[in-house]
Amino acid sequence: QELKEQITRFEAKTQEDLEAFRMRFISRKSVIGDLFAGLKDVAATERKHMGIALNDLKNSAQQKFQALISEVNAVSSTNEKTDLDLTLPPATTHTGSLHPLTIVRKRIIEIFERIGFNVADGPEMEDDWHNFTALNFPENHPARDMQDTFFIEKNPDMVLRTHTSNVQIRLMEVNKPPIRSIMPGRVFRNEAISARAHCIFHQVEGLYINKNVGFKDLKQTLFHFAQEMFGKDTRIRFRPSYFPFTEPSAEMDISCFICKGKGCKVCKGTGWVEILGCGMVDPNVLDNCGIDSEVYTGYAFGMGIERIAMLKYDIDDLRLFFENDIRFLKQFSAYS
Ligand code: PHE
Repeated sequence: QELKEQITRFEAKTQEDLEAFRMRFISRKSVIGDLFAGLKDVAATERKHMGIALNDLKNSAQQKFQALISEVNAVSSTNEKTDLDLTLPPATTHTGSLHPLTIVRKRIIEIFERIGFNVADGPEMEDDWHNFTALNFPENHPARDMQDTFFIEKNPDMVLRTHTSNVQIRLMEVNKPPIRSIMPGRVFRNEAISARAHCIFHQVEGLYINKNVGFKDLKQTLFHFAQEMFGKDTRIRFRPSYFPFTEPSAEMDISCFICKGKGCKVCKGTGWVEILGCGMVDPNVLDNCGIDSEVYTGYAFGMGIERIAMLKYDIDDLRLFFENDIRFLKQFSAYS
């Protein structure tokens, strides 16, 4: 009877407790095992009675043992569950970010697409016709020297394009007006690499050809662009300039959005920063591409993506765009 009570009261929390129970009540050498062994010394009249009682004891020990096993296992598996905290946030991984030139290019494209421009593309290795001649650069004209050209050694007629204006020509050669496109792309000039210049950079040019296109259309479109890109209070001004493929030609400045005209290092105290070149497409260029310059007129503009990005993000060294230093690049993750 006393043993039976010990069995009922036994509590097990760990595997060690289970083993202790097994040793004490279940194994051959347990107290119950000993009692069974002692049966043969019991008087024959008592033996049957004792045998039944012992069997009963043995069964309760075994039942209790099974119950204890399931209890201990249940406890240890809830322990495992609590070790695994499903509410913890995942370990952070660095996901990278868009390159600042990509961010600015996407923004420029977005602004122009919304007002009806589509995006056109063309080759980076170009023949003399599309990079120069069709754009009204006469042969041996000094204007060609303005664009420090890389020539392809094996084929003197081929160059690395010095601007994306080659795409203007390709568009006008195969399409009838109206043409309203922007041309983002990589361009190449043989310049010494410095904080201000690089032999590779990126441009977005724009072209609109239709009947009755005037300088007012060019101004309004670029004014819209400047305000979208640099803020609603941005003003613009045009200065006369020269490009072989536009007449008249101009360079466009925006009011300095950093100092708001008070004068700072970005605008060198003038209150204005130059952002692009533009003009009315020279009639010779239209005629070179088979578009009747008596019927159609158009405007074109071109800007450097690096220049816009440097202004927008206050970057003072062009080389940073090409070095892919992670410390530089990761600063743009907020804009990606
Ligand atoms: N192609 C010129 C350049 O690379 C930019 C430009 C484009 C100017 C279109 C006027 C019109 O400098």
